Amino acid sequence: MPKPLPIQFQATDLEALAKVKGRIAVLADAGQPGSAGFRRLDRLTKGALARAAGSEAFGKLKPGEAMDLAFPPGLAADAVQLIRLPKKADQTQARKAGAAVGKTHGAGGSLVLAEGHARAADIAFGLAMRAYDFDTHKSGEKTAPGPVTLMAANPEAVAKAAAPMAAVAEGVFFTRDLVNEPANVLTTHDFAARLAAMQELGLDVEILEEEDLTRLGMGALLGVGQGSESPSKVVVMQWHGGSKGDAPFALIGKGVVFDTGGISIKPAAGMEDMTMDMGGAGVVAGVMRTLALRKAKANVVGLVGLVENMPDGRAQRPGDVVKSMKGDTIEVINTDAEGRLVLADVLWYAQERFKPTGMIDLATLTGAIIIALGHENTGVFSNNDTLCNAFLSAAKAEGEGAWRMPMGDAYDAKLKSRIADMMNVGGRDGGAITAAQFLQRFVKPDVPWCHLDIAGTALVKADTALAPKGATGWGVMALDRLIRDRFEK
Ligand code: BES
Ligand code: MN
Ligand code: ZN
Repeated sequence: MPKPLPIQFQATDLEALAKVKGRIAVLADAGQPGSAGFRRLDRLTKGALARAAGSEAFGKLKPGEAMDLAFPPGLAADAVQLIRLPKKADQTQARKAGAAVGKTHGAGGSLVLAEGHARAADIAFGLAMRAYDFDTHKSGEKTAPGPVTLMAANPEAVAKAAAPMAAVAEGVFFTRDLVNEPANVLTTHDFAARLAAMQELGLDVEILEEEDLTRLGMGALLGVGQGSESPSKVVVMQWHGGSKGDAPFALIGKGVVFDTGGISIKPAAGMEDMTMDMGGAGVVAGVMRTLALRKAKANVVGLVGLVENMPDGRAQRPGDVVKSMKGDTIEVINTDAEGRLVLADVLWYAQERFKPTGMIDLATLTGAIIIALGHENTGVFSNNDTLCNAFLSAAKAEGEGAWRMPMGDAYDAKLKSRIADMMNVGGRDGGAITAAQFLQRFVKPDVPWCHLDIAGTALVKADTALAPKGATGWGVMALDRLIRDRFEK
């Protein structure tokens, strides 16, 4: 499983620069005097750096963007990467600067001259986040990435600030790996095993098997998985880092390891993307990993419903009526609206067992949210302004797009069924909202709750600021920040 690159933090050593192999990254800003490292590299390259920094091309770079000087005379390095970064750069710009290094980092290794920059730790974080590569299934010779050294004026302080960020990066990588993994590898069994392995980090991990779920009455969740050879499971991950006896905050994830649509089968084109339909569960797992790695001072429980939605002789049919753990009956009009059926039971179980102080669910729930918000923002639905605003601020602070969507009784009314307590779909119009209304029926009125529809943000077809195309790990940073700001102060 790919892990974030380890980064060595060292004091700035100008004497070493001439002989450094691989790539050297140095920070500069147009029209500003160069740092000591910049001046030394400029002297060694006989003024090439100052010419580059004074060029029109450099002047057009945005903060965090970079240009390469290849095979510079006077240096052993293959390239000097000149990164435009103002002294007063914000967190996003500093992470972007780091990402420029992470994107080009290769076998030869990279040296980053962060020197006295106040955001050196953010640069390291951006570097680690962007240097992700899912090459598990590529055969042939693999070149291991070379070492990364970051030189700073105060390396101990930077290393200390970067340590909890490294825990976040590792959580994000865990999420990305899970989301990128194909469904013949990441079965419900394999997924549960990867979660169980996190016991080593101090998490309490329990796996509920089909017989347990039957006993609990999770008919909605079980109906979704009944056409698959992979047994349905619910995995409960508890992190006890807060005061003993304090009720936890709950994170709940949709973990459909593959969504064919079931008997309401999806069209062939693009169906391969449904390997990412466990994205919500992937984010919950990544956050739990981060909390454990950085020993968060909070009580948090993560619950994921792991199922596979397949067409089969035993599969659930359109028109079937299932009974949820809550006791409400559901007419399954469309077997492709399966995520809400899974979440209904996991949400209810979370409340019954843990009496959480609040809960957030994440799910690649609807195509409709992609129509509404594209791939830039997750759809946020909530019954509680305080929790919702806290989440939106955390997402904003971490640069993860999130946009609140409306809810209301008129949407809820669309779920009325002739023969059961509700239907599992409410028509095409406002499809992401009726899905959220469905979930809300399984949330007790006094429990603060947010639903995050990450169908558009969990996996993208183009590079983003901190990730190559593919799984993004969207939400791990925001949720980690929310927990830090709400419970650890
Ligand atoms: N997993 C899909 C939603 C989805 C679509 C995620 C595209 C990521 C990308 C979900 O289970 C689904 O199939 N939803 C249906 C609901 C419909 C049948 C009411 C949809 O969005 O079409
Ligand atoms: Mn579906
Ligand atoms: Zn789905």
